[in-house]
Amino acid sequence: MKALVVGGGGRENAIAAALHRSGTEVYSIMKNNNPGIAKLSVETELMPETDTERVAQFATSHGIDLAVIGPEAPLEAGLVDVLEDEGIGCVGPTKAAARLETSKSFARTIMRRHKVPGNLDFAAFNEFSRAKAYIKDSNKDLVIKPIGLTGGKGVKVMGEHLKTKKEALAYIEEIFSKNIGGAGVILEEKAIGEEFTLQAFCDGRSVVPMPLVQDHKRAYDGDVGPNTGGMGSYTLEDHRMPFVRNEDYEAALDIVKKTVAAMRAEGCPYKGILYGQFMLTADGPRVIEFNARFGDPEAMNVLSVLSSSFTDICSGIASGRLNAERVSFANKATVCKYVVPEGYGTEPKAGLEISIDEEAIAREGAMVYYAMVDKKGDKIFTTTSRAAGVVGIADTLEEAEENCEHALKHVQGSALFVRHDIGKAELVQKRIDHMQQIRG
Ligand code: AMP
Ligand code: GLY
Repeated sequence: MKALVVGGGGRENAIAAALHRSGTEVYSIMKNNNPGIAKLSVETELMPETDTERVAQFATSHGIDLAVIGPEAPLEAGLVDVLEDEGIGCVGPTKAAARLETSKSFARTIMRRHKVPGNLDFAAFNEFSRAKAYIKDSNKDLVIKPIGLTGGKGVKVMGEHLKTKKEALAYIEEIFSKNIGGAGVILEEKAIGEEFTLQAFCDGRSVVPMPLVQDHKRAYDGDVGPNTGGMGSYTLEDHRMPFVRNEDYEAALDIVKKTVAAMRAEGCPYKGILYGQFMLTADGPRVIEFNARFGDPEAMNVLSVLSSSFTDICSGIASGRLNAERVSFANKATVCKYVVPEGYGTEPKAGLEISIDEEAIAREGAMVYYAMVDKKGDKIFTTTSRAAGVVGIADTLEEAEENCEHALKHVQGSALFVRHDIGKAELVQKRIDHMQQIRG
């Protein structure tokens, strides 16, 4: 089996490692020279991941059987449509099905039309004047989001990032004047609670869930600072979250299953990884957003404990014959902390050398995945994005967190930053207490 991995981040390094582990010959395409992926690959080519024709040409000329698309941009560009036309199986939705992520109004409209539970009240606008009137008439805090893709940086919450209606209006005006996201604005009800991620393998019909994950979007310890792509994440040995009750979990999984059924009913079957970002509120889980791919960092947590063959799962997704009985995860906890350049989230310091001792990291009971670094000659340099994800793995969260911290010492370089509180008992307890307080 020859598989092509598209994308050059930590998520894609985890995907490539899981494919390699399950006996696949890995080929890769990415923008940056990620040494972790390159090392696992028979052949790597550096090119824009959204150049669908070039990617397809590479895939056909190398006899690729299966392609796993990591990031959202190539999905939006229609890479799956082009590869499937060439007869190549894909783990990733078509351009139309990827709208669950690429259009926030599409996702909410589908949920509304098919009465999928867990939706939030929303209104979508393609004109500033109408959005302005809506905000003026509203007496609630709303969440303001560009409808299209913004690389995780476009969402602003009234009462948090935007203190007054005036600031909210100014932001909406900016979205239209700068055409942020390229498709107008959606104003949503603000959900209050604790967030968690439920990712699932989908073959258009069947939905097979992965362990729950909690990501940490704020840049600094204690959940302060700017929102980022995610600073780190953890999973527990029982594959749940300590603040998520069984009924909440079942409700979230039901939402994912009903969304996949809705897409099928729309004539737009969803195939690939469906990522549900949930806010657990006093009234149960609410959908914050869907992503049409693995989360990054979340992929590093779940794929590190996948105990069945990822190649087998990918083949099942691509052929529409996913078998839940052949998917299993080890009962281990994981803690992933991202090493990022100082200033990540605002003004990151790029282009500095970083060195990683992979063997020493393995000896600590951890794994390392290279992210948006660039290898030039025999040296590795940081970029403006996240540099490397270190994942501690153990029987308990406490040990996994310790393993991660010990392993982080083997990542060396200047001007690097890590959010050390991720996976620590104190922060997890804060989430549990917050949820208890919300439930009253
Ligand atoms: P997103 O890029 O959609 O994941 O949004 C970034 C962050 O904004 C989320 O992780 C939430 O913390 C917050 N957020 C987004 N939508 C809502 C909402 N409707 N209610 C409350 N918080 C939200
Ligand atoms: N960690 C959030 C994301 O991948 O969008």
